[in-house]
Amino acid sequence: MKFFIDTANLEQIKEAHELGVLDGVTTNPSLMAKEGIKGHDNIMKHYVDICNISDGDVSAEVISTDFAGMVKEGEFLASLHPRIVVKIPMIKDGIKAIRYFSDKGIRTNCTLVFSPGQALLAAKAGASYVSPFIGRLDDISFDGIELIDQIVEIYANYAFNTEVLAASIRHTVHIIKCAEAGADVVTCPLNVILDLLKHPLTDSGLAKFLADAKK
Ligand code: G3P
Repeated sequence: MKFFIDTANLEQIKEAHELGVLDGVTTNPSLMAKEGIKGHDNIMKHYVDICNISDGDVSAEVISTDFAGMVKEGEFLASLHPRIVVKIPMIKDGIKAIRYFSDKGIRTNCTLVFSPGQALLAAKAGASYVSPFIGRLDDISFDGIELIDQIVEIYANYAFNTEVLAASIRHTVHIIKCAEAGADVVTCPLNVILDLLKHPLTDSGLAKFLADAKK
């Protein structure tokens, strides 16, 4: 399973990269705004900065909602760096744009996916990744992990190449359940990745070993 970090914060990307477990980065307009990155040129430069401090794919999201706008934006984003994946919303023109990019060999990440039907459409259109938002489903009392199970099963039934990128990860149980379900990728905030390290018996066991080493 690949680990992506879900942030536009360069320090956090560096920290995850230095840990040696980072396979890619996902961003979205809200994460860019959170870092105070404003204006077209600054945002484009920030994507390149992210590519330069990480390995693996970097998802960069279009903000147009019409086919022509998404194509123009997506082609520019893809030209910034070979590891940029164009993130496209799950809407009708988005599906058309995913098909267009797929036919041109430009990789895409279909975002804002909340149902198996949406995931099926994204795969049919040739998306490289599909991003089901499991935390946001949990927030409205639907089972986000069940959606991952369904998408993994559907894609396996037909051998779709689209990778299941579980997004909107809130805690380590989400990561473990996604791993059990066979998600290809989880994209997580840094604190959730670091939470995987934690266990009180590790802490107390290490304290005892260090104390005994002094004897
Ligand atoms: O990158 C998209 C997704 O991970 C959003 O997560 O926490 O805003 O629901 P969240």
